[in-house]
Amino acid sequence: MSITARAKQQSKRPPRAPAWLPLIGHGRQLLRHRLRFLREARAYGPVVRVGLGPMETYLVNDHRLLHRMLVAEAAQFPRGVHFRKARAVVGDGLVTADGAAHRRQRRLVLPVFSRKRMHGYSDVMRHAAVERIASLPYDRPIELKAEFVSLAITIATRALFSSDRGIDAVSIVKRTLPVITRAVSMRAMDPTGLVEHLPLPVNRHFDAIMQEMYGFIDEMIASYRRTEQTGVDLLSLLMLSTDEDTGRSLTDREVRDEVITILLSSAETTALAMSWCCHELGRHPEVFEAVRAEVDRVLTDGEPPTHEQLGELALTRRVVKEALRLYPPTSFLSRTCREDAELGGYHIPAGSTIVYSLYAQHRDPRLFTDPDTFDPDRWLPERSGDATPEAFMPFGEGVHRCIGEQFAWAEAMTSIAFIAAHRDLRPVNSDAVRPTGTVMLEPHGLSVVMPRRQPA
Ligand code: HEM
Repeated sequence: MSITARAKQQSKRPPRAPAWLPLIGHGRQLLRHRLRFLREARAYGPVVRVGLGPMETYLVNDHRLLHRMLVAEAAQFPRGVHFRKARAVVGDGLVTADGAAHRRQRRLVLPVFSRKRMHGYSDVMRHAAVERIASLPYDRPIELKAEFVSLAITIATRALFSSDRGIDAVSIVKRTLPVITRAVSMRAMDPTGLVEHLPLPVNRHFDAIMQEMYGFIDEMIASYRRTEQTGVDLLSLLMLSTDEDTGRSLTDREVRDEVITILLSSAETTALAMSWCCHELGRHPEVFEAVRAEVDRVLTDGEPPTHEQLGELALTRRVVKEALRLYPPTSFLSRTCREDAELGGYHIPAGSTIVYSLYAQHRDPRLFTDPDTFDPDRWLPERSGDATPEAFMPFGEGVHRCIGEQFAWAEAMTSIAFIAAHRDLRPVNSDAVRPTGTVMLEPHGLSVVMPRRQPA
């Protein structure tokens, strides 16, 4: 039966989450206790109506329905309004493209992130981790998130641009990326779409920064074309990538959009994953000691792990995985319903916005035993009853599933392993740390002292 026919048969409206108010909808709960609200909404069923201000959206709280939306019926549920707004900022990179254009681009970008390519990027990660982590103070509280953003930007930028101008690139990207990231979130959250058109200093600053970023990337692309750089880094791989069926490659404009997309998608997300890992390891010294024992066994003279050694760090991997479950960095996502549809027995009208929270899903007690407990061993094969693997989806699912997943695993594991080999972790008031943020899950209040490792 077609989706539309099914939808017509089922015309029930989903229940509305409680405490809705005219005009503001559930704005108060979403602003004050967003994460709690999103989790508690599951008590009212797999789909509930939620008011984002005056706009009514549909919150999906069921991993099987999400799989249907993101995989089996992805064409019916394209990207949501937040992504369309980001298009003005990041152009038509993978994150904002949809449908046929998205499929075509994804075919060209995926090979650049294949397992085979990870070897090259792994060296970039190892060097950057040594440099950055060795430079952190031993005796003062460190705001880890900021440090890890800086590390992640360095890694992504050096992986993109390995030429002599790679050093300039890191400083340009470090200066410009935070401004662009803030503007993308601000514009995505502005329901009127007006703020970006106002002659405000913040908008003028953003335009200038964007021009600088575009100018720099265009110059790099032109210089690579002149000097015929081939296969040396991510930028040149993007420029060379060719669709075998059509013979088509990315245009220079598309390469530029993908470069900005990669920078925007990789830095914050990976930095958050690493920050939450350190938060939990600091609170669980016994797990940290076990990671350290593993790292001591596998690493060569305390050097960061090579690509091959990452495969031997099974506990470190479980720790990163458990942090990604408890704190999925991209925790709140959206889709649009193209035509009238049915979800969970409810009617969803064409054009509706559907939202879902990976945070709420990863903490659903029906899917994970003791969902609020940090327990990396839940991922051991002998404890398969303690987790629902298909409900674990920090990298999304289906046609838009993260292309940088392997990159992110390698970066997070390399950094955590190197920290365990050389530093202790002393959290500053870790009980006060709490996840906040709208789309991204920020570790509010996270600060850690990282003394030199004491002999056992
Ligand atoms: C822990 C780190 C990361 C997390 C949690 C993460 C999460 C995600 C999620 C949830 C999506 C899907 C969004 C949706 O369905 O609407 C996504 C897509 C994407 N990610 Fe990541 N990501 C991470 C790291 C990276 C890195 C390192 C890169 C690049 C080097 C990257 C590049 C992308 C791109 C380009 C897309 C869009 C893919 C598409 O639409 O075809 N991400 N990511």
